[in-house]
Amino acid sequence: MNGGTPMSGRDAKQPEGSLQTSGLTKSFGGVTAVDGVTVSFRQGKVNALIGPNGSGKTTFFNVVTGMIKPDSGTVTYRGRNLTAKAPHRIARAGIGRSFQLCRVFPRMTVLDNVLAAAQPKGLKGLGSGHGKAETEKARYWLTRMGIEHLEHAEARNLSWGQQKLLELAGVLMTEPELILLDEPAGGVNPALIDRIADLVRELNAEGRTFLIVEHNMELVMSLSDHVVVFDRGRPIAEGTPDVIRADERVLEAYLGV
Ligand SMILES: Nc1ncnc2c1ncn2[C@@H]1O[C@H](COP(=O)(O)OP(=O)(O)O)[C@@H](O)[C@H]1O
Ligand SMILES: [Mg+2]
Repeated sequence: MNGGTPMSGRDAKQPEGSLQTSGLTKSFGGVTAVDGVTVSFRQGKVNALIGPNGSGKTTFFNVVTGMIKPDSGTVTYRGRNLTAKAPHRIARAGIGRSFQLCRVFPRMTVLDNVLAAAQPKGLKGLGSGHGKAETEKARYWLTRMGIEHLEHAEARNLSWGQQKLLELAGVLMTEPELILLDEPAGGVNPALIDRIADLVRELNAEGRTFLIVEHNMELVMSLSDHVVVFDRGRPIAEGTPDVIRADERVLEAYLGV
């Protein structure tokens, strides 16, 4: 718990809780995917959100990033109320995200994909030419991802892991301070998982906050400062990786006891 200090304005020095939700709820028909979630994540840290399949992690991301409107509850980021704001407004507030199933345009080149991601409303504005500075910036992020040699390749010709890196390059084009990654290692080969882990560490050392949904426990435990566990749409445990490892409720949730 973080002491219950009320948040005021946009205080960048808030010790905790960069991203906070209160009573966040979203149901689909009879299924309450996110069930009254009150949680806060650590600014400047690598946070993980774990839990069994269907526990509401992706829905939580979708509500936080404005893809889905909550039935009730609030989302605030550094004291700003972002509840139910449009995705491009949330991006402008400094939050970027990747998708579980990766969102790239398969028949567009790698470079064009990154440039498209920089457009606040997606494809609009593509084809009208990009400024030199923007193209340089896209090349910079492709280089950081280690896929700059693929800039002229069509995205569909990249491996799955390379597509994840491409998507991350696109996310970084909007200069997010908080980055939400939905299963960054899912389906990715071990060498590229290490690359993604190193990138998260580097980007975090440069001041970016992460919130990562991931099933690879070894990766989660080695990367994270703070772990939140969901079960059936609710947080059931939170703490350091060591605390989470030792928590029987977490094991029970995974075993379906
Ligand atoms: N668009 C949707 N329509 C109906 N049910 C959904 C939808 N999205 C998610 N759900 C349901 O909500 C629950 C949580 O799903 P999800 O957020 O994808 O979980 P996770 O990412 O933790 O696996 C599941 O029972 C899922 O079937
Ligand atoms: Mg999911």
